[in-house]
Amino acid sequence: MSNNLTIVEHPLIEHKLTLMREKTASTASFRRLLREISMLLAYEVLRDLKMETIEIETPVAPMKARTIQGKKVCFVSVLRAGDGLLQGLLDLVPVARVGHIGLYRDPVSLKPVSYYNKLPDNMNERTTVVVDPMLATGGSAAAAVAEVKKAGAQDVRFLSLVAAPEGFDAFHAVHPDVPVFTAAMDERLNEKSYIVPGLGDAGDRLFGTK
Ligand code: PRP
Ligand code: URA
Repeated sequence: MSNNLTIVEHPLIEHKLTLMREKTASTASFRRLLREISMLLAYEVLRDLKMETIEIETPVAPMKARTIQGKKVCFVSVLRAGDGLLQGLLDLVPVARVGHIGLYRDPVSLKPVSYYNKLPDNMNERTTVVVDPMLATGGSAAAAVAEVKKAGAQDVRFLSLVAAPEGFDAFHAVHPDVPVFTAAMDERLNEKSYIVPGLGDAGDRLFGTK
């Protein structure tokens, strides 16, 4: 593993993730906890946004104040489960542009199958955060990042909730320039390439489809 990996550590993140991992967590609480954690993760993933100084007037005096520079940030949600992280990010950065990439992992080959792609324009001028809670084999993450790079994005980060070491290594081999942020690096993948201990199928738990 490399220094392009950040495991975001905070008692609130760990506590909320533990609640999400519990197999008895309801769909409603899983969804709410993911939204809450995504706000805490956003703080770290956007820490190095470029700033500029502008002149403003407070009710008391003029001042030079700092503001985020440049084109609006872009969040790219990998459907479906990425939408669970997206909500909290948009609570924090409501002006962000949003892209969607539809991918599902073929249950037999485990390869990502692409079914949708809608990205904002001027991707080359935006800080782009690709979001998907699960980084298992890394195939979906690598394919999604390849699509945003193809659209011109240069400053790209990947945000997950739970990752597997094998998945991070595979992703990093393909996209060594893309920093990965995650709340947890779990032990391994099982024979079905599910993360162990993980939290199960994130999309199903988020949307109550199983
Ligand atoms: C899950 C998850 C990731 C992918 C991770 O999606 O949200 O996109 O699996 O697995 P990988 O790292 O091995 O590629 P899934 O394919 O289950 O689709 P869904 O979100 O539509 O349920
Ligand atoms: N996708 C999930 O949703 N969970 C896993 O553990 C692996 C892939």
